[in-house]
Amino acid sequence: MYFALILVAFVASSMVDATPLNIRSPFRHRKVSKRDDSQKFVVAHHMVGNTYPYTQDDWTSDIQAAHAAGIDGFALNIGSDDWQPTQVASAYQAAAASGTDFKLFISFDMSVLPCSSPDDAAALRNYITTYAQHPNQLQVNNRAFASTFAGESCSFGQGSVPQGWSSQFTQHPDLSGANAVHFVPSFFVDPATFGQYNGAMHGAFNFNSGWPIQLTADTGNSVLGPLGTNLASSASQAIGTITQALSQFVGATDTDTQYVNGLKSVTTDDGAPTYMGAVSPWFFTHYGADSYNKNFIYYADSHLYPTRWESIIDNRDMFDMVEIVTWNDFGESHYIGPIHGAQPNSQDWVDGFDHTAWLDMTSYYATAYKTGSYPQITEDKLYMWARPHTKDANAPDPVGKPDNYELDQDVLWAVVFATANSTVTLYTSDSTSQTFNVNAGVNKISTDLTPGGYMRGTIVRNDQTIVDFRPDGYNFTSNPQAYNYNAFAAVSPSSAPASN
Ligand SMILES: *[C@@H]1O[C@H](CO)[C@@H](O)[C@H](O)[C@H]1NC(C)=O
Ligand SMILES: *[C@@H]1O[C@H](CO)[C@@H](O)[C@H](O)[C@H]1NC(C)=O
Repeated sequence: MYFALILVAFVASSMVDATPLNIRSPFRHRKVSKRDDSQKFVVAHHMVGNTYPYTQDDWTSDIQAAHAAGIDGFALNIGSDDWQPTQVASAYQAAAASGTDFKLFISFDMSVLPCSSPDDAAALRNYITTYAQHPNQLQVNNRAFASTFAGESCSFGQGSVPQGWSSQFTQHPDLSGANAVHFVPSFFVDPATFGQYNGAMHGAFNFNSGWPIQLTADTGNSVLGPLGTNLASSASQAIGTITQALSQFVGATDTDTQYVNGLKSVTTDDGAPTYMGAVSPWFFTHYGADSYNKNFIYYADSHLYPTRWESIIDNRDMFDMVEIVTWNDFGESHYIGPIHGAQPNSQDWVDGFDHTAWLDMTSYYATAYKTGSYPQITEDKLYMWARPHTKDANAPDPVGKPDNYELDQDVLWAVVFATANSTVTLYTSDSTSQTFNVNAGVNKISTDLTPGGYMRGTIVRNDQTIVDFRPDGYNFTSNPQAYNYNAFAAVSPSSAPASN
């Protein structure tokens, strides 16, 4: 990717007040590739399909919350509802009025948009030409950035998928000059075949890279060997060992490498191809056969969200852009934004399960990714998250347990942002606790949950309690009324050390 703002980005980065680097500085080991110098963007996947009741003020509050967390823009996932263009217009208006330079782009949801005729492509081009020159449209290589969810089966009435996308979209005369597009779809194809899409795409978005999706109950059992003869019956004393075995998959960058290698055979007319990776905090969806018929988890334990971010930052040169999956996909439980708008009948597992603690954490990692330096930690903070019931609980729920639930462990996950060395205690009931010595910086810790218990944590330094946090609204039970493998996430109120 080539950006006009290289100088600005360099100056801004050099002013960042950084702690000693524990990642490689882009300026210390400069490579010849342009990619090292390019401006990095962090965007979040926003389901326009969940915004039916939105006013422009709702868009404004989303934009302000995202911007405050270091997110540069939203990927507007659009489907086929006839009201969605109005919400897209409202989003662009809110961005323009926000005074933030927040960026937007269209991410066509090709799992629902039609793509069998040239007219279907004309509808997609219409979105691009409407917004290509809008001041808040994300531009990459001086072109309007656009993406997808899927689309690997779309030929728009042409002889092949690459011909369909190139002749009816990317290379179509409507999308030239000031309306030219920089197209980075998430086609679900083998990255080794990317060369076949020359002329159709300018890069690739690895939508599934935020989760270790190769890990299933079956593969988990084989990874664990004798330990996991049956994950579901694992004894509690083995939890730590099982978690350790599964955690090797968390934050892995194997598929990122495959994508970057696959993109080497893609030639583009506007610079080097763009690789966009994903980061996601969670995954649980619970629709029965009478509904969307999808009921599964992806493994998201072992501190997935911060761990994946750290892998991305460690391999920063590989990632031209990062998309957070997602801002507001309630149905699949991977939202980091506030719960508002409409839900696709996911209230049963979403209401009461706030995830904005992960949004709060995002600013630290997004800043590190964009500047190459982790920001200084100026407040002591404790993040905690956990599921609401034991993984093996039986509930009177006709939908049944989600596929791969066996991988989960009954663990309270916590991250401590510490301004100095401290002692942290995690409590999961009145009589169950574990104490950790943590160092200044970011510390990932965990402890077993206790049925009938809760989550609470303290940060103590020099015999002073800096943080004592027990979030309301969370209990851990072995008798749920319905299956819910979503997470409850919380962050302690800000605690600047000077005021304590
Ligand atoms: C913090 O703890 C680490 C060991 O865990 C130690 O090496 C370091 O000196 C401590 N820092 C301070 C300021 O006490
Ligand atoms: C948690 O348990 C306590 C005590 O049993 C109860 O009063 C409270 O309503 C429960 N909270 C939730 C969110 O389930």
